[in-house]
Amino acid sequence: MIILGIETTCDETAAAVVERSESGRGKILSNIVLSQVNEHAAFGGVVPEIAARAHVEALDLIIGKAMADAGQTFQNIDGIAAAAGPGLIGGVIVGLTTAKAIALVNEKPLIAVNHLEAHALTARLTDGTSFPYCLFLASGGHTQIVAVRGVGDYVRLGSTVDDAIGEAFDKTAKLLGLGYPGGPQVEAEAKEGNPSRFALPRPMVGKPNADFSLSGLKTALRLEAEKIAPIGDEDVRDLCASFQQAVVDVVADRLRAGLKLFRERCGNPTGLVAAGGVAANEAIRKVLHRVAFEVGTVLVVPPAELCTDNGAMIAWAGAERLALGLTDGLDTPPHARWPLSDIAPRAGQAAPARKPG
Ligand code: KG4
Ligand code: ZN
Repeated sequence: MIILGIETTCDETAAAVVERSESGRGKILSNIVLSQVNEHAAFGGVVPEIAARAHVEALDLIIGKAMADAGQTFQNIDGIAAAAGPGLIGGVIVGLTTAKAIALVNEKPLIAVNHLEAHALTARLTDGTSFPYCLFLASGGHTQIVAVRGVGDYVRLGSTVDDAIGEAFDKTAKLLGLGYPGGPQVEAEAKEGNPSRFALPRPMVGKPNADFSLSGLKTALRLEAEKIAPIGDEDVRDLCASFQQAVVDVVADRLRAGLKLFRERCGNPTGLVAAGGVAANEAIRKVLHRVAFEVGTVLVVPPAELCTDNGAMIAWAGAERLALGLTDGLDTPPHARWPLSDIAPRAGQAAPARKPG
């Protein structure tokens, strides 16, 4: 089964072609990602209108390149998958509408993929991880701990009540005058800094649920920075190190709580799977390893380019759904919000495959 996947929910315009064998093994035939970082850098964050326009301008070319690199034509492939949300609605509309047009013209099935589901299933493409596993998804837009029990069968164990972890890194970077995206810059500064100079809070630590809260940490950091203003280079390094250490401590505690909830509800996980751009952070990876080891499971971290937004994860999720006969009609709407728990139908209730139109 060969699937084209399209991703346009945020600031990456991406398309990929992925093959899924009958035994369920995956192979990436092409994976093209065009980042819009330069378009948004001056604003210190993603500007939705700029993102949507950039997707319109680039998507045809990116799809053409993905198809050419994979040596495929629209006639050869078995389905078109597009991220139908959650995300910035303008971008989602661009990707989903394009996928619908390709599906309609070539009489191929459309698979409307939930972007979070695609992150959740990536470990099966890269590592063949079997169900059930515990997903830690941390990106600029999402922070969740999820029990992945099957395709379409997800239990959210915890999520952020305010900012996402990546967003907190980005806001910290902006506050300290570092560039965008902030995560890598904060990490680089933190490497040289003193993590115990500033006593920042560890929000939610010790709570029995597995939820996160990051906005208080960000505010506390701002107050510390204001107290010592004007801040010099060493202050920036120490603020970054103190911030990152607080995040690491929070992640460790929240994951311990999440894995406890996982075992109560689903038994032992086959692994702890990390996804999202924040998983690129070495200090966070280290603590994920430690927590996985503590609970007697393994840490699975897909390669960085598959942890961040990409088309291969959308194509793969499309393939996993199509293999179960799950397809979508051309009237499928784009979603700005689309919690994992709302994905329908669940595994075991697969609808028969149907051609669009
Ligand atoms: O998954 P992703 O590429 O895009 C979405 O947000 O969907 O994640 C990007 C986020 C940004 O907030 C970025 O600052 C953060 O991941 N990030 C990091 C690191 N690299 C990227 N955060 C902390 N440390 C990093 N090394
Ligand atoms: Zn994402």
